[in-house]
Amino acid sequence: MLKRIKRHQVRVGMYVTDIEDPLRDEATPVRSFMIKDEAAAAKVRASNIISLVIDIRRGVDIGAGAVQAPAKDASSTLSRDFSQSEIKQALQTIEETRPLLDALFSDVRLSGTATFEPADRAVGQIAKAMESNPAALIGITRLKTKDEYTFLHSIAVSALMVHFGRFLKFDEQTVRVLGVSGLLHDIGKMVMPDALLSKKSALTDEEMAEIRTHPVRGYELLSRQDDMPQIVLDVCLHHHERIDGKGYPFGLSDKQISPSARIAAICDVYDAMTSARSYKRAWTPAETLRMMQKSEGHFDRHLLTQFNASLRASFSPVPPNRRSNSARAVQ
Ligand SMILES: [Fe+2]
Repeated sequence: MLKRIKRHQVRVGMYVTDIEDPLRDEATPVRSFMIKDEAAAAKVRASNIISLVIDIRRGVDIGAGAVQAPAKDASSTLSRDFSQSEIKQALQTIEETRPLLDALFSDVRLSGTATFEPADRAVGQIAKAMESNPAALIGITRLKTKDEYTFLHSIAVSALMVHFGRFLKFDEQTVRVLGVSGLLHDIGKMVMPDALLSKKSALTDEEMAEIRTHPVRGYELLSRQDDMPQIVLDVCLHHHERIDGKGYPFGLSDKQISPSARIAAICDVYDAMTSARSYKRAWTPAETLRMMQKSEGHFDRHLLTQFNASLRASFSPVPPNRRSNSARAVQ
């Protein structure tokens, strides 16, 4: 049985299956571990970790006062913030992109190639929906089931990159390419075994290393296409790099990382953290942005501030009876 605890509640003998740490790459599973001694417990207490999920069948429980993992009901939040027709419209956009993405992903699995044209058409649908009601589409994509995670994460990152690119006043052609970059950023995972990506138990060092090859594998298959824009290749290869040089696959730092890859890193982590998983609740957008801002060295700070502003500009919470088309709440 899994139980969420706060970091100050950690003690020796607990078996940890997940951590909520703003510094961690949310798309990569945590390796389970045992808190073996007081030094390990003290290290957790002094860390940036917000909370931990422990398995009380495999380790000690906390006793009275433990905090159960509260599953925030994102679907009820959606129906509070959006009308039925807004939700229907956002769902329709997702369904319209589904055949394009299904075909694209199966091409990647079968032949190891990904073509630009269907991805660009899918982004056309997403970009149009982000013009009329960005918050509804982003809100819907937060409701990810295990089976749909990759599909909806790709759409969400694409939509966020379109939105952020427009906020930064990029021309519409660049915005569209950023959208395709978001859609294809994790394409390297399509050629990895499902069993590895969905593995619940602890990953070995070799398995972790293999997951971390997905940017390079994605880059290799995208670069087989002559018409793939440089921005798409760059985002695919560098979206897990960090400003402080602690990212992967190359440990690039600061100016070595392009603005497009910095934008992608922000949108990728933001969507992963605001999405519910089977073992963790979804963080609210406000909580997520706070944690990302506290995550020293991870993101481009200036861009992160701008990203925050881009969300506030379109998604600021306004009471339903005073909402206009341009101001919709997603929290
Ligand atoms: Fe990734």
